[in-house]
Amino acid sequence: SGKHRVAVIGSGSWGTALAKIAAENVYKRRGDFHTEVRMWVREKQVNGKKLTEVINRTHRNERYLPDITLPKNLTAVPHLKDVVKDATLIVFVTPHQFLHTVLRELQRSNAITPGARAVTAIKGVEVNGTDISTFASLIENKVGTPCSALSGANIALEVAKGQFCETTIGTPGPVDSALWSAVFDAPSFRVSCVDDVAGVSLSGALKNIVALAAGFVDGLNLGGNTKAAVIRIGLQEMREFCMEFFEGAKSETFSNESAGVADLITTCYGGRNRKCAEEFAKSGEPFEVIEKRLLNGQKLQGTATAEEVNRFLVARRRQKSYPLFEKVYKISFENMSPKELFAGLWRPSWDP
Ligand code: NAD
Ligand code: 13P
Repeated sequence: SGKHRVAVIGSGSWGTALAKIAAENVYKRRGDFHTEVRMWVREKQVNGKKLTEVINRTHRNERYLPDITLPKNLTAVPHLKDVVKDATLIVFVTPHQFLHTVLRELQRSNAITPGARAVTAIKGVEVNGTDISTFASLIENKVGTPCSALSGANIALEVAKGQFCETTIGTPGPVDSALWSAVFDAPSFRVSCVDDVAGVSLSGALKNIVALAAGFVDGLNLGGNTKAAVIRIGLQEMREFCMEFFEGAKSETFSNESAGVADLITTCYGGRNRKCAEEFAKSGEPFEVIEKRLLNGQKLQGTATAEEVNRFLVARRRQKSYPLFEKVYKISFENMSPKELFAGLWRPSWDP
């Protein structure tokens, strides 16, 4: 019928919040969109019932976003091939460690509609030896859809409650910008599109490493000056890393967009990476233990990203130029004391 159909792959806290916005928007814009939005839910038993059935009956995701009422035109679907069937606009929003499995299954089932477009809201980066790439380009390569990247200062629960905020979508061109704005832009969720898929992707991935450093600061009972310094130095490393390894990325994305400085601020105050890193600095327990205890099935992204980015920088022999990234890795995985975060961290401001 020429109408677009939206599918959402992932139903954690952010997947569910984004699916809610998309379902509300396509209903308003039903002249151009099929009103049903399908969301892939990895099946799970919740109090003896299937999570997909609970979501479809109660219109709540009891497991990952409780207390938020979801639109009736949002349908939870347990099988990936049924989620993407006839979809022309596909949103990838799983925790980053599960993307490869999802892409393999999509390749195997061959169910993606020719001409479909994708966007990824996943925060992470793809590392392979001395190579690094965005998840947008990984998705493009594996399933053949052009892929945009959505990232911003977007703590899922606050977005789901309708609190005013903004996001950034890096797109490959104006058609993608118009379509993804129609799917996501809302009075309380303002979308700004930029011509910088790499900048948006890398700011979202790398701020999770900085958020761990901010959590160490909190765990050491240090104050706002120290955290602000860590945020500034972290932003500088994020931007330099992206500009060094991603040709064509734009420095302004980091300073001007929600995906850059604004996301870094919210995550360093209210995010899960910060929270778990505070507990890590206080308790000395490993991150897997803390993640299980504090996050109730939600997933930390910063620790794996710190490890992946460190592995890449070591492979390129560039780790000494990114002391904050290197120290967060060593504190998280090599028994360095959180107190050692600060020695050798400081450099004067970025010089273009
Ligand atoms: P989450 O942390 O709530 O994780 C739970 C999800 O992981 C569930 O859908 C669960 O089914 C899935 N899962 C668990 N084990 C799995 C497995 N083995 N295979 C496949 N899926 C599995 O997820 P989220 O918060 O929606 O995060 C998704 C992405 O969005 C992340 O990259 C995150 O950084 C990003 N993000 C999150 C927020 C937020 O506030 N939550 C905001 C912006 C971006
Ligand atoms: P956390 O994963 O640290 O909660 O950060 C969420 C986020 O990306 C906010 O934009």
